[in-house]
Amino acid sequence: MKICMLGAGYVGLVSAACFADFGWDVVCVDKNPDRVNDLNEGRMPIYEPGLDDLIERNVKAGRVRFTTELAEPVKQSELVLLAVGTPMRRGNGYADLSYIFEAVEEIAPHLNDGAVITTKSTVPVGTSREIERRLRELRPDIDFAVCSNPEFLREGSAIRDFMYPDRVLVGCDSPRGQEVMEALYKPLSLRSAPVMFVERESAELAKYAANAFLAMKVSFINEIADLCEKLNADVQQVADAIGADKRIGPKFLHAGPGYGGSCFPKDVSALIRTAREAETPVTLVEQVDRVNNERKISMARRIQAAAGGELRGKTVAVLGVTFKPNTDDMREAPSLVILPMLQDRGAEIRAYDPEASKDAEEQLPGVTWCDGAMKACGGADILLVLTEWNEFRALNLKAMKNAMRGDVLVDLRNVYTADAAEDAGFTYHAVGRPT
Ligand code: NAD
Ligand code: UGA
Repeated sequence: MKICMLGAGYVGLVSAACFADFGWDVVCVDKNPDRVNDLNEGRMPIYEPGLDDLIERNVKAGRVRFTTELAEPVKQSELVLLAVGTPMRRGNGYADLSYIFEAVEEIAPHLNDGAVITTKSTVPVGTSREIERRLRELRPDIDFAVCSNPEFLREGSAIRDFMYPDRVLVGCDSPRGQEVMEALYKPLSLRSAPVMFVERESAELAKYAANAFLAMKVSFINEIADLCEKLNADVQQVADAIGADKRIGPKFLHAGPGYGGSCFPKDVSALIRTAREAETPVTLVEQVDRVNNERKISMARRIQAAAGGELRGKTVAVLGVTFKPNTDDMREAPSLVILPMLQDRGAEIRAYDPEASKDAEEQLPGVTWCDGAMKACGGADILLVLTEWNEFRALNLKAMKNAMRGDVLVDLRNVYTADAAEDAGFTYHAVGRPT
């Protein structure tokens, strides 16, 4: 099968590489010439474990290539996948569909009769229908099908999530669309991954509902963590106990500084707007959004309290600034709210993150960047863990404490145990655990 993928971001690049690995012939088109240059010279524009090897193997095999020119690849493909961004629109929280509709305009003149156009991007209910309407206006001369195929991969484990999905979801209303999408995912259905065909509106809404539900689980356990601290319970024990019930499940019950990332915040917000517009507000989801925004602010207050109420003249050593481990993505990272609040209160910040990119430096002005955890600790008063990178688990806490001026450890990801931290001489503050 010949596929044209529009967008070489986290979803486009991973999906293009994985489809190529199935054996399909994929051209990945991105508007950003720097991104395409990097890819053509073997440099990865994003950090995603395993992606460099997967791309290298498939480029060598001639199954995937990268370009900024879409005319030829669209002409030659029976399937065009849209994996462009749908960020939050500034000011009103709706999904910004301008990249989607621009892409639709760009591909329209080059589509073949019988082409299938499928959105991988997360798009509000009704977008497939609107794409179809626009394409019918632009190309009344051809038959085509528009499908919705929302992507459920997570950054940091994207290749595994793509290759071993809990399900593949396809919204489709035509035999031609179903035929092509079935063929596309044949390599996965052959190894028993469920490929579910549903109405396009159901697929579009299911993507938002899934992200909102997961965000709700995280916010739920974060509120229970606050309660644990007041009542002397341990949130991990509570999470393990409730998660053992198969109806609840153990995942997404790790308390922390609030969820971030390119998707939960924007998708929760877009679902709230869609529901308000439909005059059926999702009040539970509205609370999730509010709880998560307040959580990040309350984390800054908690750090200040752990520092004895005063941050002026103090140095905070920060481990991890990305929104989660195994990614360089800074979008909506809790660090972007928490660290500026600490700076406003007079703290100096020294930070180390294994993969934080230029983005992090630009978005967190005034931070001193260190190239190792030990270096960040030098002379610091407070050690703050914001992202649970694996390499932080094996750090020598005693050596870290000795390098510091102070003895406060605020562990917002519960990476350490109270015993280990206290043995190393720290005054330890975790999330949802008795201190
Ligand atoms: P991204 O910002 O990393 O990448 C989008 C890419 O599209 C950019 O490289 C941009 O240059 C390119 N682009 C924009 N317009 C284009 C056009 N007309 N032609 C060619 N390229 C164009 O975005 P992302 O994180 O990959 O997200 C893409 C979509 O997938 C979003 O709707 C998002 O909600 C959804 N999604 C993301 C994830 C994730 O983990 N990041 C997971 C599931 C779903
Ligand atoms: C999330 C979903 O998990 C994916 O299924 C979905 O495809 C994707 O959004 C998307 O639509 O883009 P992602 O944002 O990559 O994936 O990362 P998650 O692992 O879901 O984490 C999101 C945030 O929640 C992170 O800030 C993470 O630290 C936080 N989180 C997650 C917790 O605080 N506790 C948990 O138990 C789990």
